[in-house]
Amino acid sequence: MVSFWKKNNETATAEWELDLDHIPEHVAIIMDGNGRWAQQRHLPRIAGHKEGMNTVKKVTKLASDLGIKVLTLYAFSTENWKRPETEVSYLMGLPIKFFDTFVPELIENNVRVEVIGYIDQLPSATRVAVENAIEQTKNNTGMVLNFALNYGGRAEIVTAVQEIATKVQNGTLPVEAITTDLVSQSMMTAKLGEYQDPDVVIRTSGEIRISNFLLWQVAYSEFVFLDTHWPDMDETSFKQALAEYQQRNRRFGGLKK
Ligand code: IPE
Ligand code: IPE
Ligand code: MG
Repeated sequence: MVSFWKKNNETATAEWELDLDHIPEHVAIIMDGNGRWAQQRHLPRIAGHKEGMNTVKKVTKLASDLGIKVLTLYAFSTENWKRPETEVSYLMGLPIKFFDTFVPELIENNVRVEVIGYIDQLPSATRVAVENAIEQTKNNTGMVLNFALNYGGRAEIVTAVQEIATKVQNGTLPVEAITTDLVSQSMMTAKLGEYQDPDVVIRTSGEIRISNFLLWQVAYSEFVFLDTHWPDMDETSFKQALAEYQQRNRRFGGLKK
């Protein structure tokens, strides 16, 4: 149980606690700030990515222990190829390192690995590491650890539109059958079943933008922005972010319950 203090007014303070009975089902995280974390320590940017990988392990364990159903982690965007070759190639090696050392623990914790993104475009060793991790954990029934890898929200929507248009063109799909549900089912997140849309999107590092993450799926998600750089994300800041989510009043266009 974690608690922290929020000033209600100048005289009174109220304690906020993480309500373990209302943990969000799908938590999505934009893991940002690795480079700045390293730069502040006069280290190369890749040192931040290395430390960020350790944070992924810690947060995965925490999320699984809290009973989160799906943890989606934005690890590499379709725009991150613009970075210097050395950084990109280090990032492409990280999933290999991560799964090499962490799959036994994932199995121990009953966590199943999934991925969204254009996996075919990854270097083959990276793709194989991801595919092996999915295969090795496929029978696990606990939390889904869903990596967004070479993922972009706009590209995902374009791919879905192409698939739908192809079916219309070849006569297997009437235009009237294109519904919100059908579009959702055409997204890469369809494999997450009832948990496709994140309840909360957390972004670290102080940037307040979406950076092409889950554009369709966040229609009614809550957003929590933290100043912490991803390698500094710890149990307290993670639980505080969830507690902040629990303070929100989700209306989905309706009226307050
Ligand atoms: C997030 O950290 C990791 C990836 C985008 C791969 P950054 O590398 O973006 O770190 P900053 O934002 O430059 O500090
Ligand atoms: C978003 O972070 C992508 C990931 C965390 C993988 P970026 O660092 O790439 O986003 P921008 O460039 O600051 O918007
Ligand atoms: Mg960044």
